Amino acid sequence: MYNLLKGKRGIIFGALDSNSIAWKVAESAHAEGATFVLTNAPIAMRMGEINELAEKTGSEIIPADVTKLEDIENLIEKSVEILGGKIDFVLHSIGMSVNVRKKIHYTDNNYDFTHKGFDISALSFHKVMQVLYKKDAMAEWGSIVALTYMAAQRVFPDYNDMADNKAYLESIARSFGYFFGRDHKVRVNTISQSPTATTAGNGVKGFSGFINYAEKMSPLGNATAQECADYTITLFSDLTKKVTLQNLFHDGGFSNMGVSNEIMAAFEDQE
Ligand SMILES: NC(=O)c1ccc[n+]([C@@H]2O[C@H](COP(=O)([O-])OP(=O)(O)OC[C@H]3O[C@@H](n4cnc5c(N)ncnc54)[C@H](O)[C@@H]3O)[C@@H](O)[C@H]2O)c1
Repeated sequence: MYNLLKGKRGIIFGALDSNSIAWKVAESAHAEGATFVLTNAPIAMRMGEINELAEKTGSEIIPADVTKLEDIENLIEKSVEILGGKIDFVLHSIGMSVNVRKKIHYTDNNYDFTHKGFDISALSFHKVMQVLYKKDAMAEWGSIVALTYMAAQRVFPDYNDMADNKAYLESIARSFGYFFGRDHKVRVNTISQSPTATTAGNGVKGFSGFINYAEKMSPLGNATAQECADYTITLFSDLTKKVTLQNLFHDGGFSNMGVSNEIMAAFEDQE
């Protein structure tokens, strides 16, 4: 380890179980010397294993439903108190689509479900940043990261309304990131991660085809959850101070590929 986050204070959203990307980020942030608060929706706490992670990393847990401003306000006030100062890093690692969960086709989306998924997956990023900004809770040269997926730019038919949520999320990172940078020297970025076998990932229809295809298309293979955590730590560290308003692909090269030899081989000699 490199002590990259020594003395830094953070808030980590979205650790549900040991497969969660946020779980790996918490373990790595702890190993790099950070202290942080863990948070998740109250319902996820009951089903999840977050207590184990809190014990392991010496963290406190503060429940917050990210659709509720009062929950976010309470979380941020208490975090500053518990951690003893302003926040240096925030991870938004949250996604949920009711249409995906209920296997409702994109062309048949139920708009109540669309609203709910949008509120949780995209608007929540604005809400978290608005509360941090208004409370002046971020330290100068702090870093805010949200996780996203390339369906924001390209068509992946079974990603459903999450594709639209991710496009909005990435736009919020740029729009809010401008004001956070200008007024508080805080950077805001999204990491566009490879398909990863987590609760959210596995919920996408045809996920095994999806993940295997990406593996064969990417010169370096898919990025794992741990590799995503490693990359996230660099964005929280002082080594990336001038990186902001970016959507950063962390996908083994997938996003710049047209086709790979392995994929071509599967289609050769077909009429
Ligand atoms: N798994 C993948 O293939 C993949 C690929 C690219 C990006 N991502 C993104 O990574 C992020 C983390 O997902 P993951 O793959 O680790 O899955 P995960 O299921 O472990 O994490 C999703 C988290 O969102 C939380 N959440 C849902 N509703 C909430 C609410 N109302 N309030 C607060 N938290 C809530 C869940 O409790 C859970 O902890 C998501 O943004 C996801 O879209 C995942």
